Amino acid sequence: AKIKFIEADGKEHQVEAQEGQSVMQAAMDNLVPGIVAECGGFASCATCHGYVDEAWMTKLPSPDAAEASMIECAFHVRPNSRLTCQLKVTPALDGLVVRLPVSQT
Ligand code: FES
Repeated sequence: AKIKFIEADGKEHQVEAQEGQSVMQAAMDNLVPGIVAECGGFASCATCHGYVDEAWMTKLPSPDAAEASMIECAFHVRPNSRLTCQLKVTPALDGLVVRLPVSQT
């Protein structure tokens, strides 16, 4: 699935994500700046925070309790904030757009 990450300064990174990996891993594999993922994907650091494009909000499963409470600790939270390590890549996510917060770049 193709996923586009857009840095806070507008720089775009189109990556090819593998099914089953997380959106965070796809960013790490492709050295997208702005995704830090300090905890390695366990919903406990919030440095993989990104803003899912509004059009995609309803196509993703809702955050579970761990993700929701960790998002509260993130900086510059918006209604479309998600932890990208908790988003699993599926074919349905082809074309997903994730914007990155300024605090991680
Ligand atoms: Fe730490 Fe996602 S990588 S919360």
